[in-house]
Amino acid sequence: MKLYLISRNPGKIRELSQLAKAYQIELASIDIPKVEIQSESLTEIALYSVAIAYIITKKPVIVEDSGLYIKHLNMFPGALSSYVYKTIGISGILKLMNGIKDREAFFKSVIALAAPTLNGVKLFSGEVKGVISEEPRGFGGFGFDPIFIPNGHSRTFAEMSLEEKNTVSHRALAFKALSKWILENCESISCWSWM
Ligand code: IMP
Repeated sequence: MKLYLISRNPGKIRELSQLAKAYQIELASIDIPKVEIQSESLTEIALYSVAIAYIITKKPVIVEDSGLYIKHLNMFPGALSSYVYKTIGISGILKLMNGIKDREAFFKSVIALAAPTLNGVKLFSGEVKGVISEEPRGFGGFGFDPIFIPNGHSRTFAEMSLEEKNTVSHRALAFKALSKWILENCESISCWSWM
């Protein structure tokens, strides 16, 4: 069974490709722009993105939208994470968190699926709680990985291997929920016909 991922983010593509392999799903990329509406809700953004991608491709498509939510900053940057990363970046976030004791944060991922044999869009999500580190650490991953330490760990996502991050991340949890749902419903949605 094949799914097409709409993303130009190499970090996401790497992680999702490794996850798909583990669940025996063939993941291919289609290079069309991912259209994103402006919204505070990852679910809304993913829903519209996948609907547009499906209208263009008529293939089984997924999009993944994610963000970092920091408690002390009233859940900023959230759905704006990509823009905030490009503008103030990691150093800007660390400046906003300078001297702050409460460093609780979480990453959230929403995956939206649309396919020819599906009635409407299916949504899956995953969250991982953690803390914002005092300084950037590690060179792996992408985005805010160098400043996020998942609960129960002492290293940042950027200090973990791809495989290790994929055992705990928000994206991995959302992808696991997607794979489980497809497997459980494969017969009724004719998932074997997705190619
Ligand atoms: P979007 O989902 O393409 O809108 O981008 C989400 C943004 O959130 C990324 O560009 C990163 O800055 C941040 N982000 C989402 N997931 C992760 C992650 O797993 N590690 C680090 N940063 C992430």
